[in-house]
Amino acid sequence: MVLVFSASDKGGTGRSVTSCNMAYWLSMDGQKVAYLDFDFGSPTAGGTFEISRIDRGAPGGGGLHEYLLGGNGSAARVSVRSETDRVELSRSRHPSGRLVLFPGDRSGSEFTVLDAGMVRRCASLFASCEQEFDVTFVDLSAGRSIALALALQATMEPQLSDVISRWLIFHRWTRQHIVAGHGLVHGDHGLLQTGAQSGHDPNKLRNSVRYVRTAVPELNEAAGLRPAQAAWLQRQNDTLNRAAIRNEMGSTVVLGQTPVEPVLQCREQVILDIDVSARIANEETVDAFRHLAVRLMNRAVWEELE
Ligand SMILES: Nc1ncnc2c1ncn2[C@@H]1O[C@H](COP(=O)(O)OP(=O)(O)OP(=O)(O)O)[C@@H](O)[C@H]1O
Ligand SMILES: [Mg+2]
Repeated sequence: MVLVFSASDKGGTGRSVTSCNMAYWLSMDGQKVAYLDFDFGSPTAGGTFEISRIDRGAPGGGGLHEYLLGGNGSAARVSVRSETDRVELSRSRHPSGRLVLFPGDRSGSEFTVLDAGMVRRCASLFASCEQEFDVTFVDLSAGRSIALALALQATMEPQLSDVISRWLIFHRWTRQHIVAGHGLVHGDHGLLQTGAQSGHDPNKLRNSVRYVRTAVPELNEAAGLRPAQAAWLQRQNDTLNRAAIRNEMGSTVVLGQTPVEPVLQCREQVILDIDVSARIANEETVDAFRHLAVRLMNRAVWEELE
């Protein structure tokens, strides 16, 4: 089983929407996929999967926030295809694929303290997901949150010693996002420092990190840009590529990127084949999500740095 931690330094990077789409496409490849909404202050996965009952988290408690605090013995879970309002999503399935959402709580909030009970409950949740699923996504809050520290401490618990953890750092393709992404991994109180304090091997942890560049614009004149705009953007793109290399986020550690998608600019959702065949969503966007999903599960992509 693979545990995938989706993280970003900034908010609004596309972390949740991209992770939901990757989870969907993995389930379409026949994988059993769990999606844990660890963005406790703002759980959005229910909305993205179009499950109106839990569109902002589980309404009456029972979600992950309450589970981690010890309020309920098990976390609420929802079969996405059984409960989505979107008929086409409920019907598009692979016979052996599954997609199960563990929602946050509508009344939840960011944790401000972390205790041993939370770490124990989190580890036991990850361990039970490892028994049942091929891939488990954990959508963490933006920034250097308690959720991040919780994930790092839980994965050091003995029952998870054989589990493969992968860290995806999502960022937009801008100067500030590149610097922020670097800071989240390498900076003070970042992933590597917090991980080392939790007992992780720093090299192993660094090798389990890959970056996802989101909503990267097309830079050529065919995309409707004026020549001066295209030339300026091309120069900026070169500058950004150099900045990415300087910030240890060059192409060898990039899992992939997504293009700017008009549908996602106005609506957080899973993009289905039917959205492409209706010519509403771009084929390149679905290709990008599928490519990310394939590379996520490809051991060679993750082992080439070791
Ligand atoms: N490839 C894309 N093209 C255009 N818009 C996108 C793309 N990916 C995501 N978005 C949009 O960007 C916004 C932010 O995305 P999302 O909510 O997934 O980010 P996030 O990093 O999870 O944010 P938060 O920190 O608030 O949880 C959403 O409106 C989403 O639909
Ligand atoms: Mg989010």
